[in-house]
Amino acid sequence: MTHRTDTNLTNLAANAPKAELHLHIEGSFEPELMFEMARRNGVKLPFASVEEIRAAYDFSNLQEFLDIYYQGMSVLLCEQDFYDLTWAYLTRAAADNVIHTEIFFDPQGHTERGVKFADVVGGISRALEDAKDKLGISSKLIMCFLRHLPESDALQTWDEAQPFLSLIDGVGLDSSEVGHPPSKFKTVFAKAKAAGLHLVAHAGEEGPPEYVWQALDDLQVDRIDHGNRSLEDDKLVTQLASTGICLTVCPLSNLKLCVVDDMKEHPIRKMLDAGLCAMINSDDPSYFGGYVNANYTAVIEALDLNRAEVETLLANSFTGSFMDAPAKGQALSKLDAYLSGV
Ligand code: ADE
Ligand code: ZN
Repeated sequence: MTHRTDTNLTNLAANAPKAELHLHIEGSFEPELMFEMARRNGVKLPFASVEEIRAAYDFSNLQEFLDIYYQGMSVLLCEQDFYDLTWAYLTRAAADNVIHTEIFFDPQGHTERGVKFADVVGGISRALEDAKDKLGISSKLIMCFLRHLPESDALQTWDEAQPFLSLIDGVGLDSSEVGHPPSKFKTVFAKAKAAGLHLVAHAGEEGPPEYVWQALDDLQVDRIDHGNRSLEDDKLVTQLASTGICLTVCPLSNLKLCVVDDMKEHPIRKMLDAGLCAMINSDDPSYFGGYVNANYTAVIEALDLNRAEVETLLANSFTGSFMDAPAKGQALSKLDAYLSGV
């Protein structure tokens, strides 16, 4: 009986219109496309086959993943590569009924290899533009700073981004968390805020609750990416709940990077019970074993989520987005219409 309910809820979530708010475009790079691009660009990968790459996706922490992630993106060289990468994600997202997506990209992972900023942002945004017309997917683009590099590098990237700010909706902070607190990036985030961009930061994935506080207080973020370790600090939970700051949670990522040992211990229900605006995302789907619907399925099955919880997660995906108010209202109505028919 319970199992039958799970299957129904899994289908309900899979078929629902939804938003994805935490997706690194370079983390959607499937090995098949990586090989094809390596061949056409004359780049040598340190793997002999697609199977060998996939076998290497066995991580015991964030850093082990990042080492392979930066290696993978090294075959991306020209505007068309960034278009193809983004288009591949968008068609896959459409199959999961994603109608709005907010995509991260890591310009420093490319410009430091000599790739032109214009080609990175140009290829990604051309695919996002096509997705509006051809797939009915709206989007926002978020430029992330690599936190293992000095803030001076982030400031240089901010300067490089100036001619393209009309294509960029927000800034974020990602890469190796522990030892690189949000406070390190106060100046560049203040500049982005002054320019009217949305602000997000990865915090509390491996780092302590103090990093989430810093993201809120020192960077003034609108949203926290992951935020799992916020639950260790009651005062922080109260702060997040009362201000409506959302957490973009990534269950399969958490399992693959050993942020949780078992999906049955995933904190998503605790987050909802605490009144937090949390939602489900795929983070780096090619590396972590599934796109957004697989992430819904994983938590529904492991935690035996009920219908109200699944509906809340779906609604939070729009509530927490950076869509403007009319678009958000329309998306929530679309979800309501869907839910009242199933
Ligand atoms: N870059 C890509 N995925 C990431 C993650 N899960 N945490 C930090 N940096 C990332
Ligand atoms: Zn992430």
